[in-house]
Amino acid sequence: MWSGTPLFPQQASTMASRVDNLYFFLLAVSVFFSLLIAGLIVFYAVRYRRRSPHAVGTNIHGGLWLEVTWSVIPLLISMVIFVWGTSVFFAMASPPEETLNIYVVGKQWMWKFQHLDGQREINELHVPVGRSVKLIMTSEDVIHDVFVPAFRVKADVVPGRYTHLWFQATTPGRYHLFCAEYCGTRHSGMIGEVVVMEPTEYQAWLSGGSGEGSLASGGEKLFQDLACNTCHRPDAQGRGPVLQGLFGKTQVLLSGENVVVDEAYVRESILNPGAKITAGFQPIMPAFQGLVSEEQLLQLIEYVKSLQTQPQGLSK
Ligand code: CUA
Repeated sequence: MWSGTPLFPQQASTMASRVDNLYFFLLAVSVFFSLLIAGLIVFYAVRYRRRSPHAVGTNIHGGLWLEVTWSVIPLLISMVIFVWGTSVFFAMASPPEETLNIYVVGKQWMWKFQHLDGQREINELHVPVGRSVKLIMTSEDVIHDVFVPAFRVKADVVPGRYTHLWFQATTPGRYHLFCAEYCGTRHSGMIGEVVVMEPTEYQAWLSGGSGEGSLASGGEKLFQDLACNTCHRPDAQGRGPVLQGLFGKTQVLLSGENVVVDEAYVRESILNPGAKITAGFQPIMPAFQGLVSEEQLLQLIEYVKSLQTQPQGLSK
């Protein structure tokens, strides 16, 4: 309703109106009670003013119904806010099953975006309209924060781990992207644009790419260059666990614990292999901390993801 005013960002994602509705509800409740209370203060100040220099006030002792009323009404209002807010929060926190995954690496002071097909971008992110997009994000240095006001989404980007954010854009166009976490001298310049395109345009944009090949194929090459393939062999004869079909499965560790093989686990196992050893294997893998960049980690992760038992080419 306020999208025409310059002070209020456009609504350009499926989440935007849900966030705005809650926001305006909170605003309406606040305005209503602020006016009510301010009005009553003025009204009573006048109504019960001291009428003569010698007037003495009378004591008032409690009113049960008054107390019940001003306890129950705020309780009901706050429960509405709680339930409503929780439902919006869960919708924002849980991406749909099928998403278009894009990796984001933040660094002082730029945004690097990496599409699975191999397209890379800096400070500009192209996405198709009407499709759920999941950003898998990490930082090379300090904490940053992705914020796209028109989508009403915002999430921290933290070094050493992957955080997620998802959105579905509803209107083609260009939208501001800000860093919303103070990250040093040029924090205010750490900005970019999200370009929302029609699906056909997006496909054309993707295929007009750099020709560097997909993330997974880059990872495959790296896997050989780093000699990972000497131990991680597909035939279960290697000194390291078989990686084929591993991603998304639950792995039993030497300690007896279970761990789900996700991006964070693959990352940790590359950088610090000793942390979670798979049951049945020796802790012989060297640590790659400091030897592979964040981008190379993403390539390796995508390569491991692509190693499914079903025929190649079906992976996202
Ligand atoms: Cu990055 Cu502020």
